[in-house]
Amino acid sequence: MAMYTPASLLLILVVVAAELHSPTFASHVASSSCIPHEREALLAFKRGITRDPWGFLVSWQRGGEDCCKWNGVVCSNHTGHVLKLQLGTYSLVGQISHSLLSLEHLEHLDLSGNSLNGSSGGRIPEFLGSMNSLKHLDLSSIPFSGRVPSQLGNLSNLQYLDLSSSTQNSLLRSTDLSWLTHLQFLQYLNLCAVNLGAVRDWALAVNMLPSLKVLEFSRCSLTNANQSLPRLNLTNLEVLDLSGNLLDHPIASCWFWNITHLKHLNLESTDLYGPLPLALGGILPNEMGQLTSLNFLDLGQNSISGVIPNCMGQLTSLAYLDLSQNNISGMMPDSMRTLTGLVYLDLTYNNITGPLPSFVGLFTSLSYIDLSYNHLTGHVPREIGMIGNLENLDLTSNNLDGTITEEHFASLKSLRCTFSKAMYLNISNNQIHGGLPENMERMSVQQLYLGSNQLTGAIPPMPISLTTLDLSGNLLSGPLQ
Ligand SMILES: *[C@@H]1O[C@H](CO)[C@@H](O)[C@H](O)[C@H]1NC(C)=O
Ligand SMILES: *[C@@H]1O[C@H](CO)[C@@H](O)[C@H](O)[C@H]1NC(C)=O
Ligand SMILES: *[C@@H]1O[C@H](CO)[C@@H](O)[C@H](O)[C@H]1NC(C)=O
Ligand SMILES: *[C@@H]1O[C@H](CO)[C@@H](O)[C@H](O)[C@H]1NC(C)=O
Ligand SMILES: *[C@@H]1O[C@H](CO)[C@@H](O)[C@H](O)[C@H]1NC(C)=O
Ligand SMILES: *[C@@H]1O[C@H](CO)[C@@H](O)[C@H](O)[C@H]1NC(C)=O
Ligand SMILES: *[C@@H]1O[C@H](CO)[C@@H](O)[C@H](O)[C@H]1NC(C)=O
Ligand SMILES: *[C@@H]1O[C@H](CO)[C@@H](O)[C@H](O)[C@H]1NC(C)=O
Ligand SMILES: *[C@@H]1O[C@H](CO)[C@@H](O)[C@H](O)[C@H]1NC(C)=O
Repeated sequence: MAMYTPASLLLILVVVAAELHSPTFASHVASSSCIPHEREALLAFKRGITRDPWGFLVSWQRGGEDCCKWNGVVCSNHTGHVLKLQLGTYSLVGQISHSLLSLEHLEHLDLSGNSLNGSSGGRIPEFLGSMNSLKHLDLSSIPFSGRVPSQLGNLSNLQYLDLSSSTQNSLLRSTDLSWLTHLQFLQYLNLCAVNLGAVRDWALAVNMLPSLKVLEFSRCSLTNANQSLPRLNLTNLEVLDLSGNLLDHPIASCWFWNITHLKHLNLESTDLYGPLPLALGGILPNEMGQLTSLNFLDLGQNSISGVIPNCMGQLTSLAYLDLSQNNISGMMPDSMRTLTGLVYLDLTYNNITGPLPSFVGLFTSLSYIDLSYNHLTGHVPREIGMIGNLENLDLTSNNLDGTITEEHFASLKSLRCTFSKAMYLNISNNQIHGGLPENMERMSVQQLYLGSNQLTGAIPPMPISLTTLDLSGNLLSGPLQ
């Protein structure tokens, strides 16, 4: 029989009181420990992992430990059920165990970036379509192959689905997207690199998803985006990426120009051609709304022709504009002066003529300008020197003339104490003449290319920050200081 002296009783009381106040004990009270059959399911999942190079699952062990505290496991504080498995990018190798089906309350499953293609012949396991509670499913960059199982269409609570591959050649494909149309709450859909080449009516399937905010269909082997939709459902869509598909029809006939609240549109490298559509400020009077919320517009590497429309100036939210490598002609319209929020402007490899407008100097947020390989004429406007954030200015291979003065470099005077900005300046292959400005020494430029112009006179002291200099093909004389 145990005998407690008053002294030992006091000791026990002190220990209990200390435990009550210790943080581990307090959190143990707040969160219920894990449900036994869910712990078994997690242990069974671990048995499907054949390699865990970083030991991420070391904490997953049979024994007294609360599985809600295991790496990557998040439980409900109220019920103790496992709600989330966050196992993305841990280089795990193996297979996705059926045992996950026992996690009946799982809402969030992230297995991205692991080589968990070891079952079902390398396919996405069909049983995942029975995990009814899932709201978030991320299977991106798992080297699955074969068809996307239509069972995924049973996940009627899904808000987020990512089956994309970051590598060029995903072996996943889907020949029929009707399974998608059941996902009524889907807000984010990323199938980048999944082969959808056989799905002619993909836009009709997508149009059945009224909650969609983000649609990432880059590199999907899509062959067209000119479907005619009876009525547009996608009133919430903000991000659309179709880059790297061979659409090969007039850009104006794409189905999405009615989505006037789009914020991000990427059509880079899609073989689209012809003049820009009305929605981007096309030539005809405004019949439909303009995409005035657009912040990001990439139409680079296509065969877009005609001019930059006047009404492009209405896209006043634009921060990123890339029209490079097209067949755009005419001048940069004066209406573009309203695009004062631009950070990135790339018009390289087009047929743009006329002067480089001085209003560009008012775009004080600009950090990247590439207008190289066009037919710009006239002087380089002094106002360029007012853009304080400029890191990259490329005016190579135009017909610019006039002289370069200190004012052009006003913002580069190194009142800035660091040379952290990798300032790149290329005005090669133009007809700039006259001498170089005297006081270049304290400019914060790292790479300066002024080759193949008609610069004359002596070479002044060069910027201290300089790492690369090209003055070849000019009429300069004297020593390099
Ligand atoms: C559980 O409670 C902790 C601590 O209060 C909190 O950080 C965590 O977000 C909660 N978990 C869930 C799933 O609500
Ligand atoms: C899983 O993917 C890897 C890498 O692509 C591949 O070598 C392996 O054969 C695949 N396993 C199965 C079962 O398909
Ligand atoms: C799950 O999806 C398959 C294929 O789409 C379908 O045949 C089956 O009826 C669905 N099951 C449930 C429970 O919805
Ligand atoms: C719009 O979405 C709803 C819900 O998915 C669907 O029933 C309807 O057919 C869709 N309309 C069109 C024109 O696709
Ligand atoms: C797009 O807008 C045009 C012009 O307002 C209209 O004729 C057309 O029906 C709209 N298309 C859809 C799919 O809503
Ligand atoms: C879509 O463009 C293709 C050419 O790529 C053309 O054959 C087809 O008729 C167009 N469809 C519609 C609905 O305009
Ligand atoms: C510029 O226009 C000429 C003639 O119109 C054309 O031959 C050339 O391909 C165009 N350049 C680019 C880069 O599209
Ligand atoms: C470029 O556009 C002009 C008309 O602006 C056209 O004559 C020429 O064929 C186009 N060139 C290419 C390569 O598309
Ligand atoms: C600058 O422009 C010249 C002339 O076109 C070109 O040869 C050179 O490669 C350009 N410099 C860089 C770093 O791109």
